[in-house]
Amino acid sequence: MASELALLGGPQAVKSDPGDMFAWPIVTPDIEQAVLEVLRRGAMSGMDVTKQLEKEFAAWHGMEGYCLGHNTGTQAIQAAMFGVGVGKGDEIICPSITYWASCLQAYTLGATVVFADVDPDTVCIDPNDLERRISPRTKAIVAVHYAGHPADMDPILEIARRHNVAVIEDVSHAHGALYKGKMVGTFGDAAGFSIMSGKSFAAGEGGLLLTPKKEVYERALVFGHYARANELTIPEYVAGGGLPWGGYKNRMNQLTAAMARVQLKKYPGEMGDIDRAMNYFWDKVGDLPGIRSHRPAWGNSTKGGWYAPHGLYRPEELGGLSVHRFCEALRAEGATSGPGCNKALHQHPLFQTVDVYRAGKPTRIANLPDDVDVRETDADLPVSSGMQERIYNIPWFKHYRTEIIDEYAEAFRKVVQNYKELLPGDPGNPPAGGGWGLTRRIG
Ligand SMILES: Cc1ncc(COP(=O)(O)O)c(C=O)c1O
Repeated sequence: MASELALLGGPQAVKSDPGDMFAWPIVTPDIEQAVLEVLRRGAMSGMDVTKQLEKEFAAWHGMEGYCLGHNTGTQAIQAAMFGVGVGKGDEIICPSITYWASCLQAYTLGATVVFADVDPDTVCIDPNDLERRISPRTKAIVAVHYAGHPADMDPILEIARRHNVAVIEDVSHAHGALYKGKMVGTFGDAAGFSIMSGKSFAAGEGGLLLTPKKEVYERALVFGHYARANELTIPEYVAGGGLPWGGYKNRMNQLTAAMARVQLKKYPGEMGDIDRAMNYFWDKVGDLPGIRSHRPAWGNSTKGGWYAPHGLYRPEELGGLSVHRFCEALRAEGATSGPGCNKALHQHPLFQTVDVYRAGKPTRIANLPDDVDVRETDADLPVSSGMQERIYNIPWFKHYRTEIIDEYAEAFRKVVQNYKELLPGDPGNPPAGGGWGLTRRIG
């Protein structure tokens, strides 16, 4: 009997042209108008539009606190680290599964990174693995809301408070997501957001820092915003301000700020469409064996704009079928999908051997006491180390168009229900899955 699977000669499940289903960001005439206005005014390096954006972005989060525009998410997160006081000889704790800019900036501050494992279902920092990673040198915990999934903030905050350690949220993947009814980015001492073009809140290269604390805000100002030294009020920073302490110029380009302001008006609506579409997809396929949705299990919790959506893969329910073979079959159906996610950072040489600043020691341990080697704790990160075989990316639907989504869901159903036919040709997973950035995905 002929196979149902396209990989084995059957008909493709995805037949329709998806049109603009995956196009992102959606650039409307009002965005073009706002950017042109800045361009024609020659106000790219000004600050008026950025300051308006800061107010509006904080208000969207219901924040009494402070928001500061940055030229990248990377710089916003570095400023958050400096803002909460990370400095020489300090440690920050970060999940091993994330993009490097959740933590690597610690090196430039003279600090280092201790990795914590991730939870297999949330793919965010595992609160049960967190406490044992804390040392007398720990200054901050970075909670990354990974691939749109909120990190489990209640236990993270409880542990942080008990040990008097700051919490930085990396919200680059989860703009607008809710954790138990409250927006992510409002839980910690500071939060950093990337708003580069690929993100769900997309405005070109740019980043935002959000903090409820004046001290953090002013430290971020003094670190990389020399042109705003007039905003400083804390005597230490007023006295030492004027030039940027970090030696950085972090100001946001106002073309980005202009686009972000318009985006902010449209985003809640766009996010609503995406959320409806993605939940529709998972409601159709989530009960199939071997695949699980990556959705928050807590009440009143959401994934915002579902940046880089992934599915969890459980090969033991599909006769051990490798995620690579599984994705190959999906691709043949036209439901392009790649295996893996961000590789476990502790496996990169930059966190093992590289001596960036020529200290005569790997940078990871260069500023620690001689008898401390935090690399030893990397040996015990089993979930992160095995993650590439248990996750894959899925289509990122931008519109609630059920007739199209149904075709993708059908592709998943076909592959799962006929998995036994895929076992004989399965070469297994290659040793080094995933990528240091997110792997290519549909949409
Ligand atoms: C989790 C995470 N943090 C930080 C960043 C850095 O942001 P940017 O690219 O705007 O510097 C990114 C992505 O680019 C990211 O995925």
